[in-house]
Amino acid sequence: LIQSFPKGFLWSASTSAYQFEGAYLEDGKALSIVDVNINSKFADTSITSDHYHRLEEDVSLMKELGLKAYRFSISWPRVLPKGRGPINEKGFAFYDRLIALLKQHDIEPIVTLYHFDLPLALQEEYGGWGNRQIVEDFEYYVRTVMRRYANDIKYWLTINEQSNMFLLPYLLEFDPKIDKQKQKYQMNHYMTLAHAKAVMACRELCPKAKIGPALGVSPNYPLTSNPKDILASRYADDFRTYFFLDLYVKGVYRDSVLNYLKEHDIEPDIHEQDMLLIKEAKSDFIALNYYQSSTVKYTQAQESKEIVVNDEGKKGSTQSEVLAGYYEVVDNPHLEKNDWDWYIDPIGLRITLKDIHERYQLPLMITENGIGVIEELSGTLELNDDYRIDYYQSHLEQCLYAINEGVELIAYSPWSFMDLLSTTSGFRKRYGFVYVDRSDEDLRTLDRYKKKSFYWYQSVINQNRII
Ligand code: BG6
Repeated sequence: LIQSFPKGFLWSASTSAYQFEGAYLEDGKALSIVDVNINSKFADTSITSDHYHRLEEDVSLMKELGLKAYRFSISWPRVLPKGRGPINEKGFAFYDRLIALLKQHDIEPIVTLYHFDLPLALQEEYGGWGNRQIVEDFEYYVRTVMRRYANDIKYWLTINEQSNMFLLPYLLEFDPKIDKQKQKYQMNHYMTLAHAKAVMACRELCPKAKIGPALGVSPNYPLTSNPKDILASRYADDFRTYFFLDLYVKGVYRDSVLNYLKEHDIEPDIHEQDMLLIKEAKSDFIALNYYQSSTVKYTQAQESKEIVVNDEGKKGSTQSEVLAGYYEVVDNPHLEKNDWDWYIDPIGLRITLKDIHERYQLPLMITENGIGVIEELSGTLELNDDYRIDYYQSHLEQCLYAINEGVELIAYSPWSFMDLLSTTSGFRKRYGFVYVDRSDEDLRTLDRYKKKSFYWYQSVINQNRII
C-alpha cells in the first residue's frame, strides 16, 4: 500500500454555522428552523462554541493544525434574516473576516451554502421546503452570496445531507394535514431544484469555481446471502443513496423509486422544465459525509417506520427504519458501535468510495467522517483521544486503498475541527480535534484545548501520509 496522499490533497476539517458560531440572534441574525427545533433537550442553541466571538483564535488554531482547507457553512438567516429581501451587512462582515483570515493563512475555504438552517421566517411565511417558492428564494440567497465571494471561493457545496434530512425526522418541519411521505418527496424535489439553481448560478457568477452536493452516505449490507436480503440491500442503496445521486449527477429520477412513488400515490409535482434544469445542472464533484455502514434484511412488514434516534447515548436504544415491502435496518454482529449505536466500519468507506466512483465517475471529497464521544479534560488539562486517532487512521488507510485503485479523492474534511453542538445530542457528543470547555448545562470558560488527535492530524498533514 502506497502510504502517501496525492500532491495538493486538501487536508481539511469541517464545521457548520448553527453548530459552531453561536451568536444566534446577534448583529441582526434571525433564527433558523434548527435553532428552534432541535437539541434544546440537551443544550440551548444560542452560544454553541462561541466561534463568532473567537474567530481569530480559532483560525490561528486551524493554521497551527496545518489545514490546507476548511469547510464551514454560511448561515442563510445571518446574511438574509428574512430569508430574502435586504441583506444584513453585519452578518456578511463576519464571513468577510473569516474568508480573509483563511486566505491570509493559505487555507482554502470550502463553503456549504445550506446546512439545515432554513430561515424561520420562510418556514412561518409559507411552509419552507414544502412550497415551490423556496426554490426562488434559495436562488436569490445563493446569488447574493456568490456575487459577494465570486473571487474568493473555489469549492461550493450546495445542500448538506439532503438524504438525511429525508431520513431523520427532526431536520424539516411538516404540515400535519398532508401525508408525510408525500411531503418528504415533494420537499426533496424542491431541494433538488434549489441545488440545480445553485449549480447554474455558480456557472454564471463563479465560472472558475467547482460545485457539488454533500450527501450523507452509508453502504447497506445484506444481513445474509438469502437473495431476498440481497435485494433488500440493493433497494436500500436505491432509496437512500442512488436516488439522490442520480438526480444530482444524471438528472433523472431513479426508476425503482419512481415506481414506489407511483404505487403509493405520492409522486411529487414535477414540471417539465424542472427535469430540463436538473439535467443541465451537472455537479463537478460529489462530496460525501461518511460515518458508518448500515445492514438490512428483507421485511414482510406492512407498515413503514421512521428511525427513532438514540440521542441520549444509551447503547441499543435506536429504533431502526423499516420501508415496508423493501427493507428493514438491522444490527451487524461483525462491527463495534459507539454509545449512539453508530457502527465503526472503515472498510465501509472504501466500499462507498469505490462504488460511487465507479457509478458516477466524478472526483470525490469526504466532507465529514468522525466519531462522537463523551469526553472530559484530565486534571492536567489533557485529552488522550486515542480512539479518535484509531478511527481516523483506519478510515484514512481505506481511503488510500481506494485512491490506489483509481478513486479520485481530492479532499478529506473530518467532522469536526473543534467540539461543537451535535445535531442529535447537544454538547455531550464531542467530535473535535480541539476541546471546548463547556458542558450542556454550564458554559464554563469556553476556552480551547488541543486534544492528542490534534497533534496526530498535524503530523499527518505535514507528512501528507498516514503515520
Ligand atoms: C451530519 C451532519 O449528519 O452528522 C452534522 O452534517 C452532524 O451536522 C454530524 O453534526 C454528526 O451527527 P451528530 O448527530 O452526532 O451531531
